[in-house]
Amino acid sequence: MAKDTKNPTTASTPGSSAMWGGRFEAGPSAVMEAINASVDVDKRMADQDIDGSLAHAQMLSETGVISSADAAAIRRGLEQVREEVHAGEFAWSAALEDVHMNVEARLKEIIGEPAGRLHTARSRNDQVATDFRLWLRDACDRIDRQLAAYQRALLAQADDHVDQVMPGFTHLQTAQPVSLAHHLLSYVELAQRDRGRFADARRRLNECPLGCAALAGTAFPIDRDMTAKALGFDRPMANSLDGVAARDFALEVLSAASICAVNLSRFAEEIVLWCTRRFGFASLSDAWSTGSSIMPQKRNPDAAELVRAKPGRIIGSLTGLLTVVKGLPLAYSKDLQEDKAPVFQAIDDLELALLAMAGMTADLSFNGAAMEAAAGEAYSDATDLADWVVRELGKPFREAHHIAGSIVKMAERKSVPLAALDLADMQSIEPGIDERVFSVLSARASMESRTSFGGTAPVRIREQLAAWKARLGK
Ligand code: ARG
Repeated sequence: MAKDTKNPTTASTPGSSAMWGGRFEAGPSAVMEAINASVDVDKRMADQDIDGSLAHAQMLSETGVISSADAAAIRRGLEQVREEVHAGEFAWSAALEDVHMNVEARLKEIIGEPAGRLHTARSRNDQVATDFRLWLRDACDRIDRQLAAYQRALLAQADDHVDQVMPGFTHLQTAQPVSLAHHLLSYVELAQRDRGRFADARRRLNECPLGCAALAGTAFPIDRDMTAKALGFDRPMANSLDGVAARDFALEVLSAASICAVNLSRFAEEIVLWCTRRFGFASLSDAWSTGSSIMPQKRNPDAAELVRAKPGRIIGSLTGLLTVVKGLPLAYSKDLQEDKAPVFQAIDDLELALLAMAGMTADLSFNGAAMEAAAGEAYSDATDLADWVVRELGKPFREAHHIAGSIVKMAERKSVPLAALDLADMQSIEPGIDERVFSVLSARASMESRTSFGGTAPVRIREQLAAWKARLGK
């Protein structure tokens, strides 16, 4: 029978750990090792771990805790470890538990005795918190760039469709005509707030736990400002217990990721709808469509459907980590090791979703005639009629609403749009109505009339477009 490497039943290492096994006589059981090891997940933080160690070693030497010769050897060794990791040559070992001990053990093989001095005045507890903050800081920066790229794709499409009228919906029922550019720019606004949420999370997480050591700080004369600065943090964390125990920074990023994923799913859903035969508003090229293995005619917008589904996984990560952290006493507990997998998964999912949304947005081609025809259906100009009655006949809006409603009912009975009614028909309901009313009864006129700030009139949209182009650099 093949050995199940995921569920080992026999010990792979008879001896106790070289890192912490001083008071142990025997090694861990195989299951103990399997449940304890996190290296498969946290090896993604190898670069951050090496950066943290380089800063720590440099500080230890500048404060006289270790010699400059030892620090130089450590530096050289760590750079070699980094090269091995990047080249895919590093031999990761589950027996060495995690990325931190793997890196340190390899450093010892390369440089010998000075490697043992690196862990002076630190613990894996502050080390892992530091690595994770560095990793998430990079993730926030990448996501910000991807959100900006998505915004630019929306902006480019908006720029081409300022005068394209489409139906605006409420309750998914035709409501009032809007410009396609206006619709697209609403997602630019939404994405900007997503960027703000990631920026906020990044600002708050950018404090350095390194030097908090296991939980209580250290008796060595370390300089925490120096390591914080070297790693690009704004300051060292002020409470050593907080430094090793807090994971709210990861929860904040997952919250931002969850909201962002939910926001993306809304446009994804519209892409799905717009690409259906029923709507016929848009289509995706072959590059963004998939076929059916049984129905030869099918073109499915699978990527949009998958973006619509991503919140399931990403909110799952947030819920999972909230549950891990809930009720944990101070300071570090091994439960916290379960923080990385959900975060990595959520960030991977979100980055892919953002790439897909930017790609699909650029790829969409719109059926302007179908949009314009739909914009004029279903009495989408009824509000314009009511507004005209208020403006020209001085009626209160509530009364005008009633008049317009009766006219819609009559048109519905005759199966014609409002503009196709006879003036006499309208006058039978409200005698004051005259010829001029017809000037407001079209989808385009309706769209063009909504010039209030934030409204859908092309004059307003051009102002918004110019502002966004200046802001996004395009
Ligand atoms: N792999 C651990 C984690 O991710 C590192 C910290 C371990 N600390 C400890 N005291 N065992 O949380």
